[in-house]
Amino acid sequence: MNNLNDRRFYYPSQQITENAIVKDYDELYRYSVEHREEFWAEQAENLFWHKRWDAVLDKSNPPFYRWFPGARTNIVYNALDRHQQTPVRNKLALIWEGEPGDVRTFSYHSVNREVSQFANVLKSMGVKKGDVVTIYMPQIPEQIFAMLACARIGAVHSVVFGGFSHESLADRINDANSRVVITADGGYKRGKVVEMKSIVNKAMELSPTMEICITIRRANVDVYMENGRDYWYHDLVGLPIASYKCETEVMESDDMLFLLYTSGSTGKPKALVHTHGGYSVYTSTTHRMVFDLKPEDRYWCAADPGWITGHSYIVYGTLINGATVVMYEGAPTYPYPDRWWKMVDKYGVNILYTSPTAIRSLMRFGDSWPKRNDLSSLRLLGSVGEPINPEAWKWYHEIIGNGRCPIMDTWWQTETGGFMITPLPITPLKPGSASKPFFGNEISVVNEEGREVNVGEEGNLVIKSPWPGMTAGVYKDNQRFIDTYWSKYSKQGWYQTGDSAKIDEDGYFWIIGRTDDVIKISGYRLGSYELESIMSSHAAIVESAAIALPHPVKGNCIHIYAVLRKGYEPGKELEKELIGHVITHLGPIAKPEEIIFVDQLPKTRSGKIMRRVLKARALGLPEGDLSTLED
Ligand code: PRX
Repeated sequence: MNNLNDRRFYYPSQQITENAIVKDYDELYRYSVEHREEFWAEQAENLFWHKRWDAVLDKSNPPFYRWFPGARTNIVYNALDRHQQTPVRNKLALIWEGEPGDVRTFSYHSVNREVSQFANVLKSMGVKKGDVVTIYMPQIPEQIFAMLACARIGAVHSVVFGGFSHESLADRINDANSRVVITADGGYKRGKVVEMKSIVNKAMELSPTMEICITIRRANVDVYMENGRDYWYHDLVGLPIASYKCETEVMESDDMLFLLYTSGSTGKPKALVHTHGGYSVYTSTTHRMVFDLKPEDRYWCAADPGWITGHSYIVYGTLINGATVVMYEGAPTYPYPDRWWKMVDKYGVNILYTSPTAIRSLMRFGDSWPKRNDLSSLRLLGSVGEPINPEAWKWYHEIIGNGRCPIMDTWWQTETGGFMITPLPITPLKPGSASKPFFGNEISVVNEEGREVNVGEEGNLVIKSPWPGMTAGVYKDNQRFIDTYWSKYSKQGWYQTGDSAKIDEDGYFWIIGRTDDVIKISGYRLGSYELESIMSSHAAIVESAAIALPHPVKGNCIHIYAVLRKGYEPGKELEKELIGHVITHLGPIAKPEEIIFVDQLPKTRSGKIMRRVLKARALGLPEGDLSTLED
């Protein structure tokens, strides 16, 4: 997908460079890596701390780095409380549009009140500092308020993306020992109501730890509510206990802020932990510098708050910077393929941040849809989640940005908390390249032994230095954290990203894709192992192998090779049934494109499935080293 031969640079306009917050990348980059701790201390000075740090970085127990140890703060203090003493108080924090067209807006003052009320409701349900609260909601303002309310009282939120099945939700609730879940009766997607509360009801049956469910009324769905377990939010918020005042709990810098589950190459999804201090500094600094945030900007990140992109760049980094956030509940193509462009026009959006899949899917409808709207308010564009192919990049640049708006192709991960490789508005751009490391970060492409590869050669992308946004670890599983990220290059102490990449002669990074068994589909992350274990739970299946193959819109799609049990006949009917089985158990985002029935799977002599051989065969590529192949 990447095109290393496209040498043309796209330069930002003089107006952009003259007004940019960061005016010289090279100089600041040099300073930031030579004086990493000073650089991050200077950024941390932009925030409020109840108590200053004893050290910027405690690196005495790698890979368990601690940023700003000894410091006290709460991310919500910086995202909300602090703004109440400045004119930001009266600024719009959130402009929200529902799919049916309803609009709600909130100033920083009113978000603060909503969050306090929500926090008091949680307290009245016995939620305390350190408790894990699960949030499973449509994209409505209360989703953000619930997250902030947890953080305000020192509880830990675990947001589960609304596209996951009840079983995936139950797995996450159980793993986190969560007692309380927050949901809505339903949400709107593609003109239909997704009944979320009923999914939660099914999940609760599988979750022994679950005691309380708080439901927001959104879609007027008839839902089953159980006495003593289920509460309507609007009933609770009417009680005297839900006052508009709630003190923000003072937290240690490395106290947990949230868990976010993500897929890895083995086992079930794991919860990554992010903390209050370092994450506040990293998300707000990256957001301000990369999106060149001006006080009057209207910023729209079209991700779901249920993913890390939403956590860092809809909620936390964004509100710390006092930005005006635009948020939309539904599908980009509802009722017509120009819904997004209409919203850009209507709200005068200045910065738009989305995924290559979304861009490709809207590009399919042609240029006339964007062109019938006024998109002249846009100044900057962003992309995240997967490599953006030059064709989609150019369409985004020409048709959406009218050739004026630099595209910030931001490479990062749930684990990194914020942008790691990214252009700045002043960076000359190459379509398809995420350009260069963000400040403070030393990033390389190396071979299996850890030697840097030559210019233009593919290798493993590694991060050589700690950064404040980095995850504090895998929840309750230090060994898994070490094994997954820090064991391959343990001698050097580098973080292994799981991605492969190239660096060109100008020092630009080109991300190629995952090197492990993680599948990126429409920018979402799924593990081959998860898909295969769901397949094996079907009576017809002996074993299977899930691989990713290129797809023109989704980037990748899932193909599953399956071996049938005796007595089952391969055929379209069974394929349909198995596809349905995967969707039921994992959720619609895991829908396989195709299930191919085979007699056996290629395996190593020790019995490991060689997915790379299946992939090479499917693509008609050389199959590589087959010396370990069993048969
Ligand atoms: O493979 C990379 C891809 O997404 C992975 C991280 O996925 P997740 O934790 O779900 O976070 C996605 C949102 C931050 C990475 O390992 N990825 C992310 N951004 C890019 C990307 N690949 C290429 N270019 C990007 N800009």
